[in-house]
Amino acid sequence: MNTLVTKGVIDPPIPKFKEKATLILKKLDRVFDMSQAVPNSPTFPKIRELVSSEVATSSAVSFYTDILGNHDLRNAICAFHPLGKHFSTDEIMITAGANHAMYTALTTMLNIGDSILLLEPHYFNYDMAGAMLGLRAQYHVLQACKGFLPVPEAVIGSLEKTRAKAIILITPNNPTGAKYPAQDVLSIVRWCSSHHVEVFLDETYLCFDPNHLNVNEIGKYIGQGLSIVGSFSKSHSLTGYRVGYLISGVPQLKQAQKIQDTMVICASHIGQRAAYHGLQCCSDDVKKKVAEIDQLTRIMQDGCKKLKRFSLASCGAFFGYLKHPFSKLSSEEAALELLENTGIFGLPGEVFGNAQKDFIRLSFCNLSSSDLEVAIEGLCGYDSRVN
Ligand SMILES: Cc1ncc(COP(=O)(O)O)c(C=O)c1O
Repeated sequence: MNTLVTKGVIDPPIPKFKEKATLILKKLDRVFDMSQAVPNSPTFPKIRELVSSEVATSSAVSFYTDILGNHDLRNAICAFHPLGKHFSTDEIMITAGANHAMYTALTTMLNIGDSILLLEPHYFNYDMAGAMLGLRAQYHVLQACKGFLPVPEAVIGSLEKTRAKAIILITPNNPTGAKYPAQDVLSIVRWCSSHHVEVFLDETYLCFDPNHLNVNEIGKYIGQGLSIVGSFSKSHSLTGYRVGYLISGVPQLKQAQKIQDTMVICASHIGQRAAYHGLQCCSDDVKKKVAEIDQLTRIMQDGCKKLKRFSLASCGAFFGYLKHPFSKLSSEEAALELLENTGIFGLPGEVFGNAQKDFIRLSFCNLSSSDLEVAIEGLCGYDSRVN
């Protein structure tokens, strides 16, 4: 069956690739699963304790919250966010994760047939969302030699050329881990705002960039052409609780509430309580997590210095973007080779765009430091055997 909405939309790429790798996975004694971005430890104990006591004792969490979400949580987001003084609780909607927030934002603010610019390598779920919503995706390919960072003049050139009505920026980035300088974000946002181009900025990995959006002026564009999508999945290990947010203007959120009410009414109440507790009580745990991710990044970067045939094209936040040496292979074939020979299970670059044939994404923060060290040692050994 292929309805108007899902026609031409790719299958969810991670389970699809897992299926292709089944035979190899069965043969391997040890697999380093870096395919889907999943934190290497469960939800912080303080949050789990709160959740277990609330489930047992609180009747409140049995019921819906407001459509926009729990007021305390929205307040806490204003307090924690680097641009928090530029928006109010009325300009935040709590969603069932960042994907849900982005889908809602695109549905609310764009029309069927509008062009939208994606920076390639792009996050596949937003490409899928655009296709489902009848948007016309255009791709601006970022260069490895520029650290996969968007050069504002070049991006603006692509926006003009494609007459795009919107652009998606993701910083820190999935799949490259690149952290966009706030000044460059501002240059793009400023131009877009004066040319009626909507900017949708995904900050799912914000905690892993100390300089994230640290230019105040960006804040004045919120609801004036800039909408921000975020998540508690990675920063607070809450992937299963499904909590994220959309920050935009009051008029935009008035429209977005129609979608929210129709689809989910509100994000999971217990999930919202968990995220609130996370913001109130777990700043030390988040700091520890950030330090751990810095350490994993160093292991990845130092270990990959020994590579001669493979190379680490980009690395940061949660991801390593590995360039493979097999010029005759597709990225899927190369990722399967890598899996078979090292147990490293990454995601083929072509999942992130047609020009990504030479790359494999490694979500290395899925692993403990000791597992990552073993995995990288195996990669170096394999690298020395490849002709
Ligand atoms: C850039 C980006 N946005 C959104 C998401 C989805 O996050 P959530 O679990 O909040 O829906 C992910 C998850 O990997 C992601 O990498």
